[in-house]
Parts: sequence; C-alpha cells; structure tokens
Amino acid sequence: MENICSTSSLAAQVGAAFAPENPGLAPRLGTVARKLLAAPETAHRLVRSLGSPLNLIFPTEVIRNAASLQETFEHYGIDGRIFFTTKPNRSTAILREVAATDLGVDVSSCGSLSAALSAGIPSHRLEATGPKDETYLSLALLHDIVVNVDSLTELEDIRSLRRSLGIRSASRILIRLSGFAPQRSLAVSDGTFGVTPTDIPALWNRLDAMKNEIELLGFAFHLNTDSIEYRAVALEESLHLLFEARRHGHNPRIVNLGGGFRVRYAEDTAEWARFLLALKDSLRSNGPLHTWNRSGLGFHVDGATIKGQPRFMNHAEELPPADQLCSLLKSPLPRFNGITAGRLLSESLVEVWIEPGRALLDQAGLTLATVTTVRSSERGEPLLRLAMNRSNLNAHELTLLTDPIALPTSAERQQQPRGYFLVGNLCVANELLSPRKVYFSTPIESGDILAFINTAAYMMDFAESSTLHQPVARKVAVTERADVFDWALDPEYRPHAWRLR
Ligand SMILES: Cc1ncc(COP(=O)(O)O)c(C=O)c1O
Repeated sequence: MENICSTSSLAAQVGAAFAPENPGLAPRLGTVARKLLAAPETAHRLVRSLGSPLNLIFPTEVIRNAASLQETFEHYGIDGRIFFTTKPNRSTAILREVAATDLGVDVSSCGSLSAALSAGIPSHRLEATGPKDETYLSLALLHDIVVNVDSLTELEDIRSLRRSLGIRSASRILIRLSGFAPQRSLAVSDGTFGVTPTDIPALWNRLDAMKNEIELLGFAFHLNTDSIEYRAVALEESLHLLFEARRHGHNPRIVNLGGGFRVRYAEDTAEWARFLLALKDSLRSNGPLHTWNRSGLGFHVDGATIKGQPRFMNHAEELPPADQLCSLLKSPLPRFNGITAGRLLSESLVEVWIEPGRALLDQAGLTLATVTTVRSSERGEPLLRLAMNRSNLNAHELTLLTDPIALPTSAERQQQPRGYFLVGNLCVANELLSPRKVYFSTPIESGDILAFINTAAYMMDFAESSTLHQPVARKVAVTERADVFDWALDPEYRPHAWRLR
C-alpha cells in the first residue's frame, strides 16, 4: 500500500541486530509515524508535557486506508459502503475525521452510539451491531439507525420496543448470520453471535409476521478468520438467503461482510520467518533465550519435534486489506454456477457493506512510554521498566511482537546492540509488556522513550484500565502538513474540514 514506507533508515535505531542469537523484528511504519519518529523532539516534548504512556492518533490515516478499499469496490463496479468500526479504539478525533467524509460508522454499544452522534456522524450513516440491551436498542430505533440483528430474540425485542416507543416508520434491519456450511470441511470454531442455519425456518416466520414493522435491508456476517475460502462460503450463503428473502416478499439489497481484514505489522517477511525459527530453536536447546522464561508462545517441544499453534497473529500478512477484498471478490461461488462473487454482486446490483476495524486503523496510532529504570531480573536478564503497564498495550490478548523504536534522550551513544525484556509498572509478578526480548542498537538509559508502533487497533485502549491506580494514557491527535506537526488532545481535535480558517 502506498502509505507504507520503508523503515530501512530506522533499522539501525530499532537495533535489528540480525544475528540469529538476537533476531530483530522491525515494525512497519506508516507515513505520519515515520516522519514523526525521524525527528524525535516532538515525541519527547509531548511525553514531557502529557506524561507516559501517551497514545498518538493519526486520524488522517483512517481516511487513506478507507480510500484503497473503496477503489477496490469501484474497480469491480460494486456499490460498496465502508463502515468504520468503533470497537478497536475510543478516539473522538477519528470519529470527527470520519464525520467529514461519507464513511459509515458501526457502533456496538450505547456509549459508542452516543459518541458517534456527538462526533457529528448523522444517524443515517450509523449501523448498530453487537449485543444490545434495552437502552442501546431503544436509542438505535428512535434514531432510525440500521440495526444489525443478532438473534431471533432480538427481533422480538425490536417488535416490543417499537410498540412501547410508538415508532411508526419501518425499522431498517440486517440479519446477522453465523454457522456457515461446516460440511465443506473448513475448520471453524464456535461463535457467540448470529442466526444459525437451524434458525432459518423460524426466521422466515418472524420476518413475514413483521413485514409492516421492519424493512429487511439484507444479511450480514463477521468472521474472525483470515480464510478467504470461508469468507466466500459465508458470502455465498448470505446471497442465497438474500434471494430467498425476495421470494418471501421482502426487498433486501445489501450484504454486509463485516470486518476481519488482516494487516501487516512487521516490515520484512524474511525477518518474521527468522523470528519464528529462532523462537522454535530456542525451545529445543539451551541456546539463546528469546522469550521470557523460554515461553513458546503456543509452541512446545514434544520429543524431537516442535508442536503447537502460535498464540499470536501473523505479523507479516502478505496481502493488504484491499487485496484481501479483491481475492474474495475473485472467488467463484459454486451455488451460483461458479460465477465470481464480484461479478454476481455487480450484476445483481447487490450493495456490499464492510466494517473494517483493524484495517482502517492500520498505522493510525502509536504508543509512547518512558523508560524509568534499567535493571536485571533474578537470573540476570537485562530489564527495562517503563512508565506504562500491560493494560496500556493489551499485551495479554493480542501480543504485539514487533520491536519498539528507541528515542534516546541523547544522540551520542556507543553503537553496541543490547537485548532487554520490557516490564511495566504494575506491582505484580511477570508484568511483561512483550514476551520477547527486544534488541536495540545502543544501550538504553532511563529517560529514553520507546515507541510501540501501530497500536491504534485493539492495542492502546481496548482493555486499558486504571488498575493499581496507575493512570490511563492520554490520547493526542497528531496531523502533519509539509513536515510540520500539529497536535490536540483527542477530544479537542478538529479536522481540517471543521475549521473556518
Ligand atoms: C460485527 C463486527 N464488525 C466488525 C468488526 C471489526 O473487526 P476487525 O477489526 O477485525 O476488522 C468486529 C470485531 O469484533 C465485529 O464484531
């Protein structure tokens, strides 16, 4: 993707000492992040003023990411609509930036619905997904927001609330589907959302009974998988039901493919492969230690072999999100005589909605933290303690394995690669910020800043808490024009389009 730039000039800072005993994993950097870190005074000034940890948000990257997905729809002649998913990040700045475009927004709680409305997103551009309590559902219905219905029970809830709220106009809904075609021997794990194939006969009865109360816009799914094949099965099934619904006298015209597009975190595929090898090797021998307490991160030794599954995501996704969408649209659909999904969608004038979270937030933020202490572990492993904790980086759920970039306080340091484990400020055992030992090209000193790259999606504030009364990070929206950076506290950010002068 064009917004991604080479990090080769930063490789030295990252400390990518590529010898097998200290495998580096340089992060991929977007345009704004790369420019900002190239002149680290701004990052230092911001952290000095606003504290550590500090989350930087780059709202314009979201718009750039959406453009490449939109181009794919246009290429296929598909009427496509992109909904920014609010789940992975609570930034107001991003919502305000999105408000100044024609992007939709997918909200998934009463709070995120309110946040979107007050950031300027009109209700006709909103879609309400996720688990819905009475308040959230009432608010969505009163604002005439498209409801992505999760279950037959939710249909009943809509019916009851419409009556008690006195809503006259038909409520617009999508039906979320799940449990697609396991007979095609795709390994599919269980899920907690959606209407399953066994619910379909009852679904038709309910929809038919509610014809005057609802407008069935179409069908939706969201899969947390990188399998294009499985996504094609889900799309095919959704289209099949969409045409079936027309035979039931409804007029659906939308299929919503959800999110789940993968992004690339590591700059170099070969480096990622070397990291995986080194990780496995380190389990076999008493050789170099790469992870805290020699954790296999999902792998383990079984006799002469290494077994298991990685407990982390692929950091070197080959296809950018737009190409993943392309691959899906190129997939033949056997139930429709093998015609490709793209052709069927464009010829049958079915509108396609997508709800990318991670993909729109790719390179839209990073997290800065100050090194407070340099010390050793019980067994003599070098440690860096940072003024942040594991909740500030969602280190538990979604392990970010790329190297943070060091922004030293002083430029003059001896070039001498040095590996450290990163620990946080919680007074608990094993408060690791990354399970990996990370290497820097120079020794690190207290006062230095580490920049964790590409943390906007799910990392920076998804699971953050003020545990042990430690502060949650402040968020700052940063924009760049002609190498000049402007910043505002996230809730105070005004996009360019919001200004008179
Ligand atoms: C319904 C729905 N849509 C979209 C998303 C966004 O997913 P991703 O960030 O993987 O694109 C999610 C994530 O949980 C979701 O539940």
